[in-house]
Amino acid sequence: MEDLIPTRIEGLDQLLGGGIPRGHLVLVCGTPGTMKSTLCYTTMYNNAVHGQKGLYISLEQDGEHLRSSMAKLGMTDNGDNRVYILDLGMIRRELAEREVTKDWTRMLLDVARQAVQEDRYTMLTIDSLEAFYALASLDNPRRELFHLFNEMKELGITVFFISEVPIGSKVLAKNGEDFLADGMIMLQHVEVGETDVQLRLRCVKMRQMDHAPGWFAVHHDGERFLVSQVLSRRRRMVAEPDTPE
Ligand SMILES: Nc1ncnc2c1ncn2[C@@H]1O[C@H](COP(=O)(O)OP(=O)(O)O)[C@@H](O)[C@H]1O
Ligand SMILES: [Mg+2]
Repeated sequence: MEDLIPTRIEGLDQLLGGGIPRGHLVLVCGTPGTMKSTLCYTTMYNNAVHGQKGLYISLEQDGEHLRSSMAKLGMTDNGDNRVYILDLGMIRRELAEREVTKDWTRMLLDVARQAVQEDRYTMLTIDSLEAFYALASLDNPRRELFHLFNEMKELGITVFFISEVPIGSKVLAKNGEDFLADGMIMLQHVEVGETDVQLRLRCVKMRQMDHAPGWFAVHHDGERFLVSQVLSRRRRMVAEPDTPE
């Protein structure tokens, strides 16, 4: 398929079947610290040099903090705003200046529309769904979300919507986000033995793609991501049976 946006993360594009179809809205879910922000930022950062402009809207942490933690992972900005970060403080100041109503659904759509139509952005991350709910205090979250997702899709921009899953929670999407989204990527910490924790990733859903269904190991060496098969002892034994005589 020609209109795929690759993540350019080693191992991830293979499991996705090539990349993410342009214009998809993809949920990236996981408990705190599972590198959701890093994954979305990295994908946009990797694509910026290939002409895809990325906008990161942080409703959660301040932009400087995000920028410095990404810089520590080698994604330095060099002053050219390779990924443009719009944080809550900036949005609040703008809202105050324009004295517009605090309709957060409309605000997000206005920002996305301007980003696409005037500034030629092609990728967007919104961090996070929960922060959006907290700010917006919606009367009818399901209906609002349906409207927000549909309008975003109409714009043709490829969107990562980060979803923070509380530790221990079994509920991934309380307003049907998983049904409305085109794709869903889950990140999870898995305890291995008594002391180790491994980060794993699973593509739960990706419309139009023949993606791998299982869990994969995610590693970040401080410079690059690597997504690879989980090598358990059992699987190795199954994968490499004794060769018959
Ligand atoms: N090699 C590494 N493996 C895991 N986490 C790392 C590594 N290097 C740095 N971190 C840090 O782990 C933190 C969690 O990543 P982040 O993307 O913010 O997670 P989330 O958005 O899911 O809460 C970040 O501060 C990140 O910089
Ligand atoms: Mg985060």
